[in-house]
Amino acid sequence: MIDIHSHILPGVDDGASTMEEAVSMAKLAVNEGITKIIATPHHQNGTFFNRKQDILERIKELNYMLQRENISLEVLPGQETRIYGSLLDDFEKGDILSLNHTNYLFVELPSGHVPRYTEQLLFEMQLKGLTPIIVHPERNAEVMKNPEKILKLVKKGALTQLTAGSLTGHFGKRIQKLSIQLIEANCTHFIASDVHNTSTRSFHMRESISKVHKEFGSETVYYFQENAELLVQGQSIYKQEPSKIGYKKFLGVF
Ligand SMILES: [Fe+2]
Repeated sequence: MIDIHSHILPGVDDGASTMEEAVSMAKLAVNEGITKIIATPHHQNGTFFNRKQDILERIKELNYMLQRENISLEVLPGQETRIYGSLLDDFEKGDILSLNHTNYLFVELPSGHVPRYTEQLLFEMQLKGLTPIIVHPERNAEVMKNPEKILKLVKKGALTQLTAGSLTGHFGKRIQKLSIQLIEANCTHFIASDVHNTSTRSFHMRESISKVHKEFGSETVYYFQENAELLVQGQSIYKQEPSKIGYKKFLGVF
């Protein structure tokens, strides 16, 4: 299994603080059945700045340590960039790192709202041949109030990634319901851990797969796992036509 979103890189953000902690997270990842993990440190979120070159160097160090410890987990490069006006200029400058050097790029919305310029920026990214992936839309306050915001962005070519813990109820019932609705409406394409530590923000990948299997069956489990594989190889992922959110099982929740 591949986990495309993690804060396993030590000492760079609010994820693993030391190399020891990163190694503990790596061992837990292997226990979860994860063989490859993309390290996606926060960038431009108001607190953390992790530019492309710094991330690449630190990933080499972590992979070296994991090999030395005989842990069969490969760490791939990535970045979780908060949306900001000059994101594309900084991409041109070489500060922004795509996922495993593909054309897929993580974009994080602020937790409270969806900025007005989001649609335009995501469009411009696609004009440059990049595919934006909005991370954990189910945890954005404006999307929670109005899930149609995400439907609109997905219809215009953006992809989205759910957090495993959202599906398992670790962020509460409402976020769990919205996560399931987003899958039902074909508005999400990946499930990833967004792991920050081994306790309060752990992987929950296996548990989330069980949940998807229970709600949607093995084909949907396969869809998410296959999409993560295709992403790291830089290939086109599976998508289905998005439909209106909330029309099925949870009709009337919002
Ligand atoms: Fe994250």
